[in-house]
Amino acid sequence: GLPPRNDDLKALIRTVPDYPIAGIMFRDVSTLLLDGHAFRETIDRLASSLDPADIDLIAGIEARGFIVAAGLSYALGKGKLMLRKQGKLPGPAVGIDYALEYGSDRIEMHLGAVKPGQRIILVDDLLATGGTALAAVALLRGQGAIVEQALFVVDLPELGGGQRLRAEGVTPASLVT
Ligand code: PRP
Ligand code: ADE
Repeated sequence: GLPPRNDDLKALIRTVPDYPIAGIMFRDVSTLLLDGHAFRETIDRLASSLDPADIDLIAGIEARGFIVAAGLSYALGKGKLMLRKQGKLPGPAVGIDYALEYGSDRIEMHLGAVKPGQRIILVDDLLATGGTALAAVALLRGQGAIVEQALFVVDLPELGGGQRLRAEGVTPASLVT
């Protein structure tokens, strides 16, 4: 059949009011992930915006970001780097704390996972304030990576994450706003 339009992907993302705290409109991609055709379309579209020759690694952010990163990694034949929440990595790790739309958190990566000068595409399911993505960029750059592009399924532009990423020299792209 015809590929879904952006509106079709958007219609598959459920909104849950007041989750995880009052006042947050939670954009829930779990409903999009239940649709295999839409997931394939999501990954294919994100992959087609990238030139594999310019990429060394795909970095995904736990937890929902892993799903998107794994799809892209498979589609492009590139390795993936897990940016994990606190305390999940067995090897020596380096981490960074960050603020969220609804709290704070910490992401970590294994020391030595990135070789200096490697070009990394950052991937997550959703961009809100950009706190998570900016922390990931800082963490990766601190390990010598080159990070100039970030991909998301959903961008919530009113929360300003895209602007913050651009200010740090990272170009964001997304399928649904
Ligand atoms: C969500 C989302 C992004 C982040 C975006 O993850 O998956 O990682 O918030 O928000 P920000 O742009 O304001 O930083 P969450 O921390 O809820 O974790 P999860 O994927 O483990 O559910
Ligand atoms: N992460 C940060 N803000 C979010 C929102 N409104 N919906 C889903 N994930 C989020």
